[in-house]
Amino acid sequence: KVRALSDGYGRVATDLRVSLTDRCNLRCTYCMPAEGLPWLARDELLTDDETLRLVDIGVRLLGIETVRLTGGEPLLRRGLEHLVERIAELRPRPTIALTTNGIGLAERAGGLAGAGLDRINISLDTLQRETFRRLARRDRLTDVLAGVNAARAAGLTPVKINAVLMRGVNDHEAPDLLRWAMAEGVQLRFIEQMPLDAQHAWQRENMVTADEIRERLSTAVDLVEDEDDARRRGSAPAELFRVAGTEHRVGIIASVTRPFCGACDRVRLTADGQIRNCLFARTESDLRAPLREGASDEEIADRWVLAVRGKRPGHGIDDPSFLQPDRPMSAIGG
Ligand code: GTP
Ligand code: 5AD
Ligand code: SF4
Repeated sequence: KVRALSDGYGRVATDLRVSLTDRCNLRCTYCMPAEGLPWLARDELLTDDETLRLVDIGVRLLGIETVRLTGGEPLLRRGLEHLVERIAELRPRPTIALTTNGIGLAERAGGLAGAGLDRINISLDTLQRETFRRLARRDRLTDVLAGVNAARAAGLTPVKINAVLMRGVNDHEAPDLLRWAMAEGVQLRFIEQMPLDAQHAWQRENMVTADEIRERLSTAVDLVEDEDDARRRGSAPAELFRVAGTEHRVGIIASVTRPFCGACDRVRLTADGQIRNCLFARTESDLRAPLREGASDEEIADRWVLAVRGKRPGHGIDDPSFLQPDRPMSAIGG
């Protein structure tokens, strides 16, 4: 019997985001410091069997419908294809999505699609090699572009591209990114930067807002708010606009200035087996200990239900008492 993962505000979590590693092969300045972070030790990470057991409990007992694999960088997880294959064998079979920086995807997109991956979101903030090197601190732009092509060729469509704009770094590139996305046939989404960086350097004044993004795009194209899209938005984070005169759509994820917390359907599992009911949660619920101590599916499900029940109504970034979560985005899962 399925028990819904509901909270005290009428929301139901059906979208499970699973972080498979806290490591990454880039060092985006809005995410982590140049030297990286103290990574989780191997024995702290859930094994594939453990991850699969929890995902199975999620889909069979708790109404999870979509499983999104994230990191850090999930392509760094050894045997990712096999894990995808095993998730695809679960019943009911969840939709399987991946959020990746695209490095190494050129060689792996076909295999992932064959294993059962349904959707992919690739992060790409700039089309300029020098800017990429400055922003991600690694010279890997061509790898990412090859990854985007491979994802499309593998039929992982629509390929979604996530772009975080940083003032004075890549914000002038918004129209170029959109023209590129239209030519490539991928769906671009601009994201407001959130206070989730390991360095705690985020400042609201520096954030490029959704309204600014829209203004910048409007210098190049006319954007039309689509009634249908607004309605279809549901719990999707992106507000979609149609580029006038085309069928192309561009998204803006206004997590800070127009939060979608009221319609949030997400719950997170960290690479070390903690349930987080929100990106900005101040507490986590440990599923790894009971798992390793031989708890039953029902006992684990009970803990999970309680963890979601305590979800707060919103991220509270605007509250005077706001505190950044104790783990950065790379350790929580994007
Ligand atoms: P789709 O189902 O493809 O729309 O996935 P998604 O947009 O949820 O996934 P993705 O991993 O690509 O996330 C895109 C961006 O949405 C992230 O970079 C975050 O900025 C933002 N985001 C994702 N999850 C949350 C969340 O729970 N809360 C908030 N505030 N923002 C989130
Ligand atoms: N704010 C918003 N988005 C972020 N991402 C990483 N850090 C942040 C942040 N502080 C994005 C990445 C990736 C997605 C998973 O999250 O660029 O596209
Ligand atoms: Fe890696 Fe993503 Fe963080 Fe960039 S934002 S360093 S790609 S985890």
